[in-house]
Amino acid sequence: MVNEFEKYVRTGRSSVFPGVKIGYRSYVNDSMIRSGTTIGRYCSIGRRCTLNAGRHPTDWLSTHPYFFDPEYNAANLPPWDRPQRLDIGSDVWIGDNVVILNGLTIGDGAVVGAGSIVTKDVPSYAIHAGAPARLLRYRFSPKIISELLELRWWDYEEAILVDIPWNDIGKSLQILRERINSGRYKIMPEHVAARPEQPFRMPL
Ligand SMILES: CC(C)(COP(=O)(O)OP(=O)(O)OC[C@H]1O[C@@H](n2cnc3c(N)ncnc32)[C@H](O)[C@@H]1OP(=O)(O)O)[C@@H](O)C(=O)NCCC(=O)NCCS
Repeated sequence: MVNEFEKYVRTGRSSVFPGVKIGYRSYVNDSMIRSGTTIGRYCSIGRRCTLNAGRHPTDWLSTHPYFFDPEYNAANLPPWDRPQRLDIGSDVWIGDNVVILNGLTIGDGAVVGAGSIVTKDVPSYAIHAGAPARLLRYRFSPKIISELLELRWWDYEEAILVDIPWNDIGKSLQILRERINSGRYKIMPEHVAARPEQPFRMPL
């Protein structure tokens, strides 16, 4: 399993397990990202976060991995069927000290407040916070959100973003729409560079 990072990805002093994919310009500060995590483009991820936190069986005789992890297979049972993925969209902001359990989807444009424990999917452009994380509000009106999800500005080559008035959502959308409709801007293809597997065994 290799990691796949697009251009200008920064992972700082994070522990990035093998099998993690991170999109263009996204950064993660000093956090832990477990195998099976996909992060879109232009995401900001804070410090001391655990992304894709594993689950242990709570209704077995023991919760210890010795009994459910195929690596040990001590119980001689079929491997415990557990989700091992986390899908994070593009333009997602995750604050400091956040734990996101595995098997979840964090939609495009979502925000997760500092110190949250995320146990359920976060819809696109929703702001969730708390332990367990709950909806505080949406960033924009349903009309604007559906337009953003249709335009998907992060899919395009960065030239489409030049001189966009970021702090004015109405004007930003209008200009993006015109530029996309002009056909002059290309989709930015995935340009992942595979990085070698990191030489540590997955802690349990
Ligand atoms: C979630 C966040 C983005 C604010 O969103 P917001 O929609 O503007 O929220 P508001 O500040 O208006 O607060 C709304 C309510 O949510 C609560 N709230 C805000 N952030 C919260 C959090 N992280 N956890 C729990 N509750 C939170 C507020 O206390 C307020 O509660 P009230 O209605 O009972 O008074 C911000 O609080 C946050 O956590 N930012 C991340 C900061 C960070 O980690 N930065 C470093 C990494 S880049």
